Amino acid sequence: MTEETLSNLLHENRRFEPPADLAAAANVKADAYDAAAADREGFWAAAADRLSWATKWDRVLDWDNPPFAKWFVGGRLNVAYNCVDRHVEAGLGDRVALHWVGEPVEDRRDVTYAELQAEVSKAANALTSLGVATGDTVAIYMPMIPEAIFAMLACARIGAPHTVVFGGFSAEALGSRIEDFKAKVVITSDGGYRRGAASPLKPAVDEARGIASRSGHDVEKVLVVRRTGQDIAWDESVDVWWHDVVDSASPEHTPEPFDAEHPLFVMYTSGTTGKPKGILHTTGGYLTQAAFTHWEVFDLKPESDVYWCTADIGWITGHSYIVYGPLANGATQVLYEGTPDFPERGRWWQIIAEKKVTIFYTAPTAIRSFMKQGQEIPDRHDMSSLRILGSVGEPINPEAYVWYRHVIGGDRTPVVDTWWQTETGAIMISPLPGVTAGKPGSAMTALPGVTAEVVSDEGVAVPNGSGGYLVLTSPWPSMLRTIWGDDERYVDTYWSRFREEGFYFAGDGAKLDEDGDLWVLGRVDDVMNVSGHRLSTTEIESALVSHPKVAEAAVVGATDPDTGQAVVAFVILRETATADGVDLTGIEKELSDHVRSQIGPIAKPRQIMIVPELPKTRSGKIMRRLLRDVAEKREVGDTTTLADSSIMELISAGQATST
Ligand code: WTA
Repeated sequence: MTEETLSNLLHENRRFEPPADLAAAANVKADAYDAAAADREGFWAAAADRLSWATKWDRVLDWDNPPFAKWFVGGRLNVAYNCVDRHVEAGLGDRVALHWVGEPVEDRRDVTYAELQAEVSKAANALTSLGVATGDTVAIYMPMIPEAIFAMLACARIGAPHTVVFGGFSAEALGSRIEDFKAKVVITSDGGYRRGAASPLKPAVDEARGIASRSGHDVEKVLVVRRTGQDIAWDESVDVWWHDVVDSASPEHTPEPFDAEHPLFVMYTSGTTGKPKGILHTTGGYLTQAAFTHWEVFDLKPESDVYWCTADIGWITGHSYIVYGPLANGATQVLYEGTPDFPERGRWWQIIAEKKVTIFYTAPTAIRSFMKQGQEIPDRHDMSSLRILGSVGEPINPEAYVWYRHVIGGDRTPVVDTWWQTETGAIMISPLPGVTAGKPGSAMTALPGVTAEVVSDEGVAVPNGSGGYLVLTSPWPSMLRTIWGDDERYVDTYWSRFREEGFYFAGDGAKLDEDGDLWVLGRVDDVMNVSGHRLSTTEIESALVSHPKVAEAAVVGATDPDTGQAVVAFVILRETATADGVDLTGIEKELSDHVRSQIGPIAKPRQIMIVPELPKTRSGKIMRRLLRDVAEKREVGDTTTLADSSIMELISAGQATST
């Protein structure tokens, strides 16, 4: 985003007041801000009281050893009990928890809370019979089918931390996560449906198991759901069918309470180095804030709302706002297996109409792609059930916000632009639908109980109308506890930039407008945001350099009208690859396929440019700013600090001839 578009943005003056009836009946009203400011710990204790605890905590927050937080110290609870059993005990067993909609159009399954209790209990018993004990780790690599949720809750139920790896990640990426997490068991399926075809998953697990094994970690069992019925390789000593062990297991299982700080899951995310970080979330604080914010920000009325979040369970949004938050609140929700536009471009809107969805949560990149397709497609469907719309993952531009509100929400629905991260575990900055007059493009203010600021390089709060770094100034219940197995990296990554001030550094830049409302501008580090997915420049560079023909690579995130940012790579080939007579046709595709196989399709560069040199400072640091100028087809900026200033001419000249 250029400075000019930015300052245009900041003069946005449209406001959308909350509908009066929604405001009057809102779960959370304006007084919550003051209540939380007066007694933050008391505020979060009241939020924790919405859950069922086997043993109440004796201390809300232990921050004696920052930045290592403990919330609800001494408290004990079971996450699956809170998400499932307690609703059944309250007489809500017949309420639908999941309206599952498969990708094949006729595929449907409704799961009530009573059925969910039986399914999760069976899966918990089956995992125990496979040797999974409290504290053992499990990796989950699955499509968006109900069994994925049963699997996550079964792990939570027996206190076995899980890591869900997005089904679009490659075998390499899965293998390194299995190895880092030391997963004892992997839960997967034969395959899943994508755009009408069965696409395999199990072969990637087989390969990943081999990768982990070569680095010294052996997976004991692989539990496989039969989803597509496609042929797969089978290793009798390791592989077990879900229908063999889960279907026959007992539907009775007594959940044991665990310590509030017991590890619940690890979610791997891209950082500024090549190695993904395992973000650790624990039990009591995480569930408190995921459930509370879901009830607060979406104004959930569990008895009447039908909620739908389009994220994949392989991302944090799927964890907090499909699985843990909504189910802890006893919500009824849609779970959808497929893509937005298959078999027809109005598939999402048709599902909203069919299931009478009232709350809808998606990403700006999806909204922008629907805008391009035109209003006629959503206009064919009756979406009058909708009352609240949410956005997450990247900044939502005002045009997309207004289109979303107008075309999808019929000008009735507040739009909540929710800022948060894998690390924060739950929404931190967002309007409240019954309180805030929404401003297109602004995430507005920190939620009650959350303290966010925009600060200068020196850590001083900036005045209204200025920009700086987004920081969180006090601990919050669903904060990450550490990076799995690497406390030092946790401290360095998040707490060293503003060490003296004791601020959490989010890695995002932000601005305050003249009213003091907050606009998130995007990452200020080497992390890119492509269609709301976090990718590390270094990780893609390492993938490129691992190709035998590549000598050096530099990756930048270039502004892209559809995906927010897009990956653009600059590559220097090895001399052997460029020797006379060597045919270089197709090299870009070869390298792009290599990135895909190393990380996954989401990391595939939009463009690869073969260059003779990279622009470096005298100390050898690559000047990405200049490469971004080339990638975004701008005039190249100041090159005076380059060791060799003629290099940019070479690169730009090459760019003019490349496609
Ligand atoms: C970006 C996704 C602007 C931001 C929940 C953050 C946003 C990163 C917003 C986290 C938003 C997320 N407005 N930017 N509403 N929401 N981001 O870990 O750069 O996948 O740091 O978590 O996405 O991405 P993550």
